Amino acid sequence: MIRAIHLCIVAIFCYLLSVTEAGIVSCPCSDSSLCQLISGNPDKEIFIFSLSDKPTAWKNYDWKKVTTVVMVGYVSHDLMCYAHRYGARAVLIGNFPTSNLTNIDARRMWVKEQLQKTQSNFLDGINIDYEDAIPKDDINVRDGYTQLVSETYETFKNANKNYQVTVDVAWSPSGIDKRFYDYIALSAVTDFLFVMSYDEQSQIHGDCVAGANSGYYKTFKGLEDYLTLPVPRSKLVLGIPWYGYVYPCIMISEDGRTCKIRQVPFRGVNCSDAAGKEYNFSFIKQTLLNHSTTGRRWDTDTMSPYFDFNYDNITYQVWYDDPESLSLKYKLAVMSKLRGVGMWNADAVDPIQDQEGTKMMWDALPDYKSKEIYLN
Ligand SMILES: *[C@@H]1O[C@H](CO)[C@@H](O)[C@H](O)[C@H]1NC(C)=O
Ligand SMILES: *[C@@H]1O[C@H](CO)[C@@H](O)[C@H](O)[C@H]1NC(C)=O
Ligand SMILES: *[C@@H]1O[C@H](CO)[C@@H](O)[C@H](O)[C@H]1NC(C)=O
Ligand SMILES: *[C@@H]1O[C@H](CO)[C@@H](O)[C@H](O)[C@H]1NC(C)=O
Ligand SMILES: *[C@@H]1O[C@H](CO)[C@@H](O)[C@H](O)[C@H]1NC(C)=O
Repeated sequence: MIRAIHLCIVAIFCYLLSVTEAGIVSCPCSDSSLCQLISGNPDKEIFIFSLSDKPTAWKNYDWKKVTTVVMVGYVSHDLMCYAHRYGARAVLIGNFPTSNLTNIDARRMWVKEQLQKTQSNFLDGINIDYEDAIPKDDINVRDGYTQLVSETYETFKNANKNYQVTVDVAWSPSGIDKRFYDYIALSAVTDFLFVMSYDEQSQIHGDCVAGANSGYYKTFKGLEDYLTLPVPRSKLVLGIPWYGYVYPCIMISEDGRTCKIRQVPFRGVNCSDAAGKEYNFSFIKQTLLNHSTTGRRWDTDTMSPYFDFNYDNITYQVWYDDPESLSLKYKLAVMSKLRGVGMWNADAVDPIQDQEGTKMMWDALPDYKSKEIYLN
């Protein structure tokens, strides 16, 4: 009997011990102070998306510049510890089904899960990457999305005011890709909006031809439209692409300038960049440009580089961004006193095979942390 009681006490003790272990996760960093949240806000952001959980990739980011890294498709404690060492935030990425936006219980459950995931991994917040269409007259769903973001913001900030909550928005607030969101309200319930100033050919209204992924004037107009709403400049981070599009031409003009593309509809428009395929910067620079028939050309209408190449009797046209076109956009963000800049994505350069290109791309980013940038 006594033995049975003893065993029972041991069993309960062991059970309680295991619950404690499961509930309170211990810090995975070599130095436990690295599990603390990053506090305060940098004046300016360099907001980056990481797609690779390989240390050979993320150890080569320019940590002198990065202020926030979003882990896409993975969560790495090693990267969290590493980012914290450099005073940079490491955050989660999240998305939510449109069909449940008006479902209060589903929203509440989701927010709770996101906070738990953030806390148990010692992360610094969440980036919400919701990009579905919401028709202009669907006010309930539109407001449901605002509610979701608002509830996330409130829940996270109540848990710890140092948590960062951001959302990704289209290059312009004017219903791009049928994304009729309440952008003013969203900016009020987030730390800032990451403006995806790319995929600007997702709905081609004019001739069905290849064009710039992140044209300077379109990007400018999109930002202007946000500022006019108004969204405060301190709530806008300019997101630029470190990738480009390769379009097979169904017809190419004699001068190699105009590449007619196949019609692939997207959200109500007959012609879109879905006729092309996305490729990372290093591959475009190292491999495709090397096989070009035109060499790198500069399009003054969009302030973007492009070129043609042939493969299997097909002419392809490549539209991309390089340090020259990106510098113009970074300068625009600095001059417009935006909250900062960022890229999709930090792993579109190859620090092993393309050291030179990688360094040029990181070097082109504003050096906000050194303060010298403010002299401009
Ligand atoms: C919507 O939320 C309910 C819970 O309220 C859940 O059971 C369901 O799976 C959710 N739907 C989607 C598409 O996630
Ligand atoms: C889009 O394509 C459809 C089907 O081919 C056609 O009926 C329609 O007129 C096109 N719309 C425009 C704006 O070209
Ligand atoms: C570019 O092409 C030339 C020959 O066409 C070749 O010698 C060179 O190695 C190529 N460079 C790269 C980076 O592939
Ligand atoms: C390319 O076109 C030429 C001339 O029409 C033809 O002889 C050749 O077989 C084609 N090559 C391929 C890979 O289709
Ligand atoms: C870039 O794209 C090429 C071709 O798709 C791929 O093989 C390579 O792994 C990519 N590089 C990086 C750094 O993502």
